[in-house]
Amino acid sequence: MTSIDQQIAFVTGASRGLGKELVTQLLERGARKVYATARDASTINTTDGRVVALQLDVTDAGSVRRAAEAAPDVTMLVNNAGIVTGARVLDVDQTDIRREFETNFFGPLQVTSALAPAIVANGGGVVLDIHSALSWVSFGGAYETTKAAFWSATNAFRLALAPQGVQVVGLHVGYMDTDMVAAIDAPKASPVDVVRQALDAIEAGQLEVLADDVSRQVKAGLSAPIEAMYPQVAPAV
Ligand SMILES: NC(=O)c1ccc[n+]([C@@H]2O[C@H](COP(=O)([O-])OP(=O)(O)OC[C@H]3O[C@@H](n4cnc5c(N)ncnc54)[C@H](OP(=O)(O)O)[C@@H]3O)[C@@H](O)[C@H]2O)c1
Repeated sequence: MTSIDQQIAFVTGASRGLGKELVTQLLERGARKVYATARDASTINTTDGRVVALQLDVTDAGSVRRAAEAAPDVTMLVNNAGIVTGARVLDVDQTDIRREFETNFFGPLQVTSALAPAIVANGGGVVLDIHSALSWVSFGGAYETTKAAFWSATNAFRLALAPQGVQVVGLHVGYMDTDMVAAIDAPKASPVDVVRQALDAIEAGQLEVLADDVSRQVKAGLSAPIEAMYPQVAPAV
């Protein structure tokens, strides 16, 4: 089983929200080193000597290459960085749709391909991908399509990397109490609890984390007829 205290972790989007909480709990569980990465590295708290702040914009190939070169001892990657713009899938202007795909899909693809060789060379380890309940249900937003694509990529990462000793874990959750959904008035999971579940799952050798009732209900609903998930579009009989 994987033990967090053996890990040299690399977290994307560590400036705030879930990423910041991931850094905190990785340190609490004894991680040997945490590369806490952010678009602006000065936002990272380096009071704990095990934290290495690195500049990383997941949409910038040069930034990804430099951060990967600075972390040759990495054993654990957390693909956490993400954005939501409010773009709709049928927007004629696709600027924000493409921006979401660059960050939420191509970003983790690029970061994973840059870091996976080191993780494998260091004896194997962990990739934790932060998905959403919205990977599996649409409300018409572009965000959901990026999270569905990323979820599919995670399955591909797993096929490629599991034989090389890498545990690839996907985490799904509904609303979480972070800046991303600050304007939304709805029940929200606590990032503290979500990270605790993620790290427990890694240590238990699991591959998927359904961190709240919403994600559990959405996944269970996938086996029902499509009209049950989208009753508003069921054909009239
Ligand atoms: N909050 C929710 O309800 C919810 C639910 C399900 C899943 N998620 C997912 O959880 C993950 C964390 O989100 P959060 O809730 O913690 O949101 P958040 O508080 O808005 O934080 C997002 C993080 O991503 C970083 N980021 C954005 N674009 C980036 C880029 N191009 N390169 C590097 N870092 C970038 C941000 O950095 P800056 O400080 O530089 O902006 C920030 O650290 C995301 O993947 C999100 O999709 C969130």
